[in-house]
Amino acid sequence: MLGLTALYLLIFLGEDIMGRHPSRSSSLSGFTAQAAASFKPPQPCQHAKDVVDICFNLVHELVKTGKCVRLNKRENSILYLSALFHDIGKDRVPPELLYASRKLTEKEFDKVKEHTQFGYEYLKKQPIGFFNRYLKEAQREGYDVALLGEHDKKAVESISRTVRHHHEKLNGTGYPAGLKARNVSLGMRVVAVADAYHALRSKRSYKEDCPEGECVNTLWQEVRAGRFDGNVVEAMTFIADEGQRAPSRKLKPMREMRLAAPAPL
Ligand SMILES: [Fe+2]
Repeated sequence: MLGLTALYLLIFLGEDIMGRHPSRSSSLSGFTAQAAASFKPPQPCQHAKDVVDICFNLVHELVKTGKCVRLNKRENSILYLSALFHDIGKDRVPPELLYASRKLTEKEFDKVKEHTQFGYEYLKKQPIGFFNRYLKEAQREGYDVALLGEHDKKAVESISRTVRHHHEKLNGTGYPAGLKARNVSLGMRVVAVADAYHALRSKRSYKEDCPEGECVNTLWQEVRAGRFDGNVVEAMTFIADEGQRAPSRKLKPMREMRLAAPAPL
């Protein structure tokens, strides 16, 4: 069973806040220095790849149950890249805060939260070619994505914005902007739930892997508290245990939800 502090950190900050090892070479950590030295693109860590996979499964489930409209290839590309890069800004957060096993002070916590803004600033400056490099790899892996058009700045803005707001909560208690309700886009909701579920489910140096049922129950607590989207968590419940525990409650469909809502910046 996770302690309350660990649980809070996982839900509030997502993966890696306490469990990532500084020397893990395959993580996104250190991409800035690495990229500057070798001009090689940052390598996504397994968590990022798994979050992508969960996000696609969530959307597939939401579409299948009529909760949201099918995404086209360009929207799939935006979702793929948003999920892949959701925590890229953590590379600019001091490692001693990311890997701290003690409770962070409020000021330190604020510093960690800045990873959302750092990610936004980094991604919005990248040329289309940067994103298409990852999309080519995604196509090779079988994802139904399309390369972005040479002048598709709106896609870059959508990706950057989803990364900036992947810790927003529907009741406005998230960060960095305290967005509420419909200002939290479908992409933000999906990445938030996938990130939290994977972080809870994974074994880390400070915790055992959390059983599926316990992870799902934790996510439903977040729904009841008004923080996570019930439709997305319902889809997550179905994916996690093949529908055996999926609640039968009626949830308002999100058919009008857009992947990237016009969130204020
Ligand atoms: Fe994050």
